[in-house]
Amino acid sequence: MLSDRSGAPLKKDVFSTPNAIKLSNSNIRATITFGYKFWFSITMHTLSIPYERIQRKDFDATLLRLEEAAVEAARNAYAPYSRFRVGAALLLSNGVVVVGSNQENAAYPSGLCAERTALFAAGAQYPNEAVEILLLVAFSEEDRVESITPCGACRQVLMETSSRHQKPFKVIMVGKEQALVLHDNRGLLPFAFDGSDLPE
Ligand code: THU
Repeated sequence: MLSDRSGAPLKKDVFSTPNAIKLSNSNIRATITFGYKFWFSITMHTLSIPYERIQRKDFDATLLRLEEAAVEAARNAYAPYSRFRVGAALLLSNGVVVVGSNQENAAYPSGLCAERTALFAAGAQYPNEAVEILLLVAFSEEDRVESITPCGACRQVLMETSSRHQKPFKVIMVGKEQALVLHDNRGLLPFAFDGSDLPE
């Protein structure tokens, strides 16, 4: 038998944030009979992440400006090893656009993704400005890819950026025809490790 129950929020704020991740619990009960009758009950917790799909042709002026900046940034990627060029454009709360592209290295782990290049550049130049939007584009060889999403390490840095400024931001992952829009970056990193896990 399956029954649904609305879940109590877990310890961390990210789980109780309605726009980032929604938590629900369901109780699964089952009965097994072989000679004796056993029953057991497990509570399964489900996380769901709201996101939107928008067509590139419906981009407003802000998104067009960010997309153009990200495409230009991707041209400046240094990606001789993967030949995969990523461009990231950030809109800061003061209206400034900061860009980044992936910067590779013959010692592979020494390279850096476009997202972190942009976020660290913004942190270095505008330490007090929150990020409002992060927009991403990527090209494999010369072709725009179907979809691009941040890697795990970048998701961690996105999380730190939003907690640092106490402001979640939009992440817009632009593909060929359409973009995935997350209104709250925290949705990209459930069960996140953050500063609240460390001793005061
Ligand atoms: N890369 C990014 O810059 N951002 C992403 O979201 C995914 C991957 C880079 C890292 C590496 O230079 C190349 O793309 C191939 O993984």
